[in-house]
Amino acid sequence: MDNIEVLISKEKLNERIKEIAHIIEKDYKGEEVTFVSVLKGAVFFTVDLMKHYDGDCILDVVRVSSYSGENSTGKIELKIPLKKEHIKDKNIIIVEDIVDTGRTFKYLVNYIKRMQPKSVKTCVMLDKPSRRVVEFHPDYTGFEIEDLFVIGYGLDFDEKYRNLPYIGYIKK
Ligand code: IMP
Ligand code: MG
Repeated sequence: MDNIEVLISKEKLNERIKEIAHIIEKDYKGEEVTFVSVLKGAVFFTVDLMKHYDGDCILDVVRVSSYSGENSTGKIELKIPLKKEHIKDKNIIIVEDIVDTGRTFKYLVNYIKRMQPKSVKTCVMLDKPSRRVVEFHPDYTGFEIEDLFVIGYGLDFDEKYRNLPYIGYIKK
């Protein structure tokens, strides 16, 4: 096992996720929300967010891949698509683990908009604004972090470390 340093503890994550769930609840009062979780990284965040969400909501998933190892290839591939009938006329919130270059979100927002949702918003656990290649600003953000390759709480390095209950990084 590599030497891992904690960046955001599980207590801090939990506290912030609760806050975001309540902010979203207020924004969508009385309206149903469809959380679209971006597999696989956002699974942990989505589950916890929804457990704290006290309102009408639906869960859906989409899978894209753009990454291998620490470097983005810039190419996005749709691996598990969404069904138009699940998106059309719904309030969609795309839930992601992290926004880095912004390419994945840009792709997903365009993809979902083509299915005629009632509304689309974006929710991300971590944001690395200094790494942006395309312009993108999430509607809901857990934490902004510096340019650091992070692991844990769904985030992987070559598929490992998703199970860590905190956000960490590998000490070189
Ligand atoms: P973007 O399209 O460059 O914004 O990349 C988003 C995707 O890259 C995320 O959904 C992650 O899967 C992956 N990613 C970006 N930064 C990290 C990181 O620090 N650790 C693990 N995965 C990352
Ligand atoms: Mg991802």
